[in-house]
Amino acid sequence: MEQKDILILGIESSCDETAASVVKNGREVLSNIISSQIALHTLYGGVVPEIASRKHVENIDYVIDEALQQAGVTLDEIDAIGVTYGPGLVGALLVGLAEAKALAFAAGKPLIGVHHIEGHISANYIENKDFVPPYMALVVSGGHSHLVYVSDYGKYEILGRTRDDAAGEAYDKVARVIGMGYPGGPKIDAAAKKGNPKAIAFPRVYLEEDSYDFSFSGLKSAVLNYVNKQNMMGQPIVPEDVAASFQAAVVEVLVHKTIKAAKERGVKQIALAGGVASNSALRTAMKEACDKIGCTLSVPSPILCTDNGAMIGCAAYYEYIQGVRDDLSLNANPNLKLGER
Ligand code: KG4
Ligand code: ZN
Repeated sequence: MEQKDILILGIESSCDETAASVVKNGREVLSNIISSQIALHTLYGGVVPEIASRKHVENIDYVIDEALQQAGVTLDEIDAIGVTYGPGLVGALLVGLAEAKALAFAAGKPLIGVHHIEGHISANYIENKDFVPPYMALVVSGGHSHLVYVSDYGKYEILGRTRDDAAGEAYDKVARVIGMGYPGGPKIDAAAKKGNPKAIAFPRVYLEEDSYDFSFSGLKSAVLNYVNKQNMMGQPIVPEDVAASFQAAVVEVLVHKTIKAAKERGVKQIALAGGVASNSALRTAMKEACDKIGCTLSVPSPILCTDNGAMIGCAAYYEYIQGVRDDLSLNANPNLKLGER
């Protein structure tokens, strides 16, 4: 007997993107609508939570309508609604969650709360239909840096996490110091291509020998000190060299720890996830390191690395087929832990 297709409406509003998507059978994206507020927050040099919430309220109906329309389906034809309920900005999360609950109640559809990081990781299932657990995932975004062993769908073991700034946060802060504006990641990525990664010897922070944790605040301070020192001596800085040297220090540590963890667990697949996974230097260095140890590397297209609804629809699908359902008492949890419900 032919299996019925499962259609999930995925909704994401945890930070500065209002996004919705229709995903078929967890792997096929029928629509992926993203309304980014980046231009607005750029005016303030970072995300302003109150403004983010207000914009989500303004955009969410349109984004969901558009996602359904582009997918050519009605809400009635959707099997379940997946929505990010944490972690993130609480006011921003609440907008997507309230909308998802209202739609689930009105249309009589199951509701599935999704962890934002689980969404990022699941973005790897979309373009590579043969990609299945187990694998080692490096999740690097504006709010998170996690090294996660994914033994099966929905089964996560966090081996390491940042002890201070997230990788993307470090990119954004360093970009501000060298006058590149928000969001810093893509700007540093582009500038670094024209700079010398060996120009300035910024520290590589490995922490204890056996630790998979990360720390980026020392590196951020080192960049700040370097820029201040140059200013005090009346020496100009070369932003491209600072960008390239900073990026080299971040990428070296991220690659080293991910490869070490993959070897230790004996996994043959590595996946990148989160906004920083669209970084070209990280992609290239990780691919080279994977080739050396005979590992395959999965990296979503840049549009699926930064926040989007498709990754939430995809994660919700795997929860759905395992029977996970939430009720209308589901609340936003800004500090939700991965693997916790
Ligand atoms: O995953 P994401 O969209 O939002 C969070 O969940 O945080 O990640 C946004 C982060 C920002 O810090 C941004 O600067 C960074 O991802 N980012 C990049 C690149 N594109 C986005 N960092 C480095 N290189 C990039 N090409
Ligand atoms: Zn994110």
